[in-house]
Amino acid sequence: MKGLILSGGAGTRLRPITHTSAKQLVPIANQPILFYGIRDMADAGITDIGIVISPVTGSEIREAVGDGSDFGVTVTWIEQPEPLGLAHAVLVARDYLVDDEFVMYLGDNMLEQGLASFVERFDTARRAARSLKLGEAPVGAPSAQILLAKVDDPSSFGVANLDAEGRVIGLVEKPDDPPSDLALVGVYLFDASIHEVIETITPSERGELEITDAIQALLDTGRVVHHEVLTGWWIDTGKKDPLLECNRLVLGTLERRIGSTVDDSSSVDGRVVIESGARIVNSTIRGPAIIGENTVIEDSHVGPFSSIGPDCRIVRSEVDNAVVLRGAVVSDIARLTDSLVGRDTVIRRGDARPRAVRMMLGDNCHVEVE
Ligand code: DAU
Repeated sequence: MKGLILSGGAGTRLRPITHTSAKQLVPIANQPILFYGIRDMADAGITDIGIVISPVTGSEIREAVGDGSDFGVTVTWIEQPEPLGLAHAVLVARDYLVDDEFVMYLGDNMLEQGLASFVERFDTARRAARSLKLGEAPVGAPSAQILLAKVDDPSSFGVANLDAEGRVIGLVEKPDDPPSDLALVGVYLFDASIHEVIETITPSERGELEITDAIQALLDTGRVVHHEVLTGWWIDTGKKDPLLECNRLVLGTLERRIGSTVDDSSSVDGRVVIESGARIVNSTIRGPAIIGENTVIEDSHVGPFSSIGPDCRIVRSEVDNAVVLRGAVVSDIARLTDSLVGRDTVIRRGDARPRAVRMMLGDNCHVEVE
């Protein structure tokens, strides 16, 4: 079985971060989101992986992932000229996929449960259907298997409609009037029949070839679509608040590791990772939290659920529930919370008169002051 990870797209909901970087490279506990998906595939025994990238952010993603050897996988890069939808990404990957079965994974999704059991179930069901003996009741081999999760606001996702026996009978993308509270999680299993049906679908109202419509076309043409309801958490990290929530959940799984200097007047409590070259001076770090390489925390408090990237400086400030990217500086800020701070950003309290908030912000920023 092959893997297909979708890491193209425009990332509009995470602007301004995605003006300069791919959304799949935004870090969760200081690791790009995408890396968790690659590792999940490797753990499920899928080592031949195609990654769909866009011409805009593709080179940055290629540089971050390398040839895949760090993950024990082989990567084939597939450029999608424009983000014309998830089914379009499959179309573009046709030469790579040929007629193989594949697991498709959306590069901005994260799930707790991994992929191994999901993949195994599909395999077993297909094998069972192939090995039927004469006289046995026919059981259709699934052409696809989808993963569903109960959500509060299904209208932001693909939504499944099940019949009284619990079979999937319909799928609809971001409906105003959702038929259930079961959202499509960004992990799908397909056989080659998906390519046939993608040829038959047309762009949706948002101008995309939807994978949801392709799966609906599988159902309409009599193919079997299996489903599983997710256990454990799942997050589509495409917006700030879900991203911070994902960061909280992943930080909660870290093992404490103090790889560098903490001076005598500092304290480090709980699940905390401090990477090499970082310096903690006259500060408290309360886990779960991670402090990146060569970052300096001085006269500060870094509170729970904070991921401070490498080469940052946090000085005379309090930070909690935040993802702070490489090279950022936070200085003399009473409390920075619920925040996503981009690379090399400087947030500091100045003493220039008149007292005022002074800023140089890029497009699509969001700032809340006291
Ligand atoms: O997160 C789950 C949801 O993902 C599902 O419930 C929906 O049915 C499914 O359509 C999808 O919805 P989104 O609107 O959240 O998809 P998004 O545009 O964020 O794209 C998901 C990933 O695929 C992301 O890593 C970018 C990548 N992508 C997206 C498009 C549109 C591509 O590689 N190429 C594309 O053309």
